[in-house]
Amino acid sequence: MRRLLIAGNWKMHKTVGEAIELVRELKNLVSDVTDRDILVCPPFTALYPVSQELRGSNIDLGAQNMFYELEGAFTGEISPLMLKDVGCSYVILGHSERRHIFGETDELINKKVLSALENGLIPILCVGETLEDRESGKTKEVVERQIKEGLKGISSEEFVIAYEPVWAIGTGRTATPEQAQEVHEFIRSIIEGMFSKNVADRVRILYGGSVKPNNAADLLAMPDIDGALVGGASLKADSFSKIVKFDK
Ligand code: G3H
Repeated sequence: MRRLLIAGNWKMHKTVGEAIELVRELKNLVSDVTDRDILVCPPFTALYPVSQELRGSNIDLGAQNMFYELEGAFTGEISPLMLKDVGCSYVILGHSERRHIFGETDELINKKVLSALENGLIPILCVGETLEDRESGKTKEVVERQIKEGLKGISSEEFVIAYEPVWAIGTGRTATPEQAQEVHEFIRSIIEGMFSKNVADRVRILYGGSVKPNNAADLLAMPDIDGALVGGASLKADSFSKIVKFDK
């Protein structure tokens, strides 16, 4: 019922030339995929050239962050209108690196989510607990707060959630399919409580954190895991295409 979404978050990698090379290769490798959505999120500098390269393909374009204002004196920031202008349809918001390295709060992330929705972008709201949170039994409390605060006041249902346990990001330490499924199911129940069963049944909840070609199928076999947000393994066309084309 929910269409799978496999998204690549390139983080701070790839010059324009490298980005074009990667998407050219990827386009060919996944051109026959029709039953799932594919998304790449390059750094800001590569968005426009990548969007030109992706024209007519089955791969969507997203950004890794944005500011919530439309324009103005906000040195160094990028607005939702600018992202739409270069062909983005999605934007990743509240990634744990934004939260932990750049100090983004739930309040700021919520403003960004509201602005993305108002301006026709689909936000991918990232949530997830640290190792300390998990070990002290606070996983659900943390994730619930991030979801409720992040989605506060929204009136659209066009959003995606990405559950990314911080301890699994870039560490090679993946959550087991059962650990991930438990949290995904919990997230769906929070969405049901905030909106409705219908919205909860339709919202896509992606898993992120050391997703690789050899573990994607097991994670994606879980009933509440509707896709993946892939970091490191999205930087090579070969590994990302293998994740995209995993066997159900
Ligand atoms: O947004 C992607 C996640 O941070 C996962 O990154 O696949 O390198 O662990 P990773």
